[in-house]
Amino acid sequence: MIVYRTKNDLTRHLDTLRKSGKSIGLVPTMGALHRGHASLVKIAKDQNDAIVVSIFVNPSQFNDPADLEAYPRTLDLDLEMLQGLKADLVFVPSVQEMYPDEVIRTFDLGNLERTMEGAQRKGHFQGVAQIVSRLFETVAPHRAYFGQKDFQQLVVVRRLVEILGLDLEIVACPIIRDEDGLAMSSRNVRLSREERKAAPFVHITLQLAREKRGSMSPAEVKMWVELRFKEQPIMKLEYFEIVEDKELMPVTNWGEQVNKVGCVAVQLGKIRLIDNLIFD
Ligand code: PAJ
Repeated sequence: MIVYRTKNDLTRHLDTLRKSGKSIGLVPTMGALHRGHASLVKIAKDQNDAIVVSIFVNPSQFNDPADLEAYPRTLDLDLEMLQGLKADLVFVPSVQEMYPDEVIRTFDLGNLERTMEGAQRKGHFQGVAQIVSRLFETVAPHRAYFGQKDFQQLVVVRRLVEILGLDLEIVACPIIRDEDGLAMSSRNVRLSREERKAAPFVHITLQLAREKRGSMSPAEVKMWVELRFKEQPIMKLEYFEIVEDKELMPVTNWGEQVNKVGCVAVQLGKIRLIDNLIFD
């Protein structure tokens, strides 16, 4: 495994791989790696001759400076995990390396940045688009791997590939959960014991909501979820939406011929949890 800190060193290596016809997979991360990230790395390893895992806590996607400050950073452990997974190349750039000047491109993400996470975290997806487009440009991978856990991000990245006109396959990877159903996330380590105990409520509610399809309309399921959250003391629901997977417009009727996903965000103590479940 080789760790690169500059774009120049990384691209020099990638150029030689490409010249010998090797396929390249990219797994972008912000570090503090857990089994969710590991699953992306394993899938990428299986599908490519060589993979690049990037570790970069991207300031431009944090709308809350306190969240950026508190974001867990565990580089030594991350590198150990990646070594164990036999990652070929790891890219750990500095902020200066990824943002050498003030030139910031704006992407037209339409409704994708007005709804759900976009509405709650102003500018977040522009920041994600900013860094992901720079990583795509630097690595020029054949495939890139993203978790279904961040469903809206996945849809944004697919849109970004269209906007940039890239010949690149985006591979969506399933959500990895703890045994009690909580979707794994780097921020989970910041939950108190009591909060951690309460957290599976989110996933359980998504599953119960999906079961209501037979007896309730999408609007009724939404009201049922909102009420269920009001009745418990510890977490605050930010949103629950059942949306289709292209424009993220709300589903109004189960008969619509679209892929349907139930998406939720809650505030639990200082931590925001997001989760989703395919409703088809
Ligand atoms: P990060 O939160 O580190 O996540 C990196 C990738 O791992 C994302 O594609 C995310 O969806 C995936 N992932 C995280 N938890 C997962 C889980 N429990 N199961 C499956 N996949 C999971 O997402 C980001 O970083 C950043 O926004 C990034 C794309 C790197 C841009 O900065």
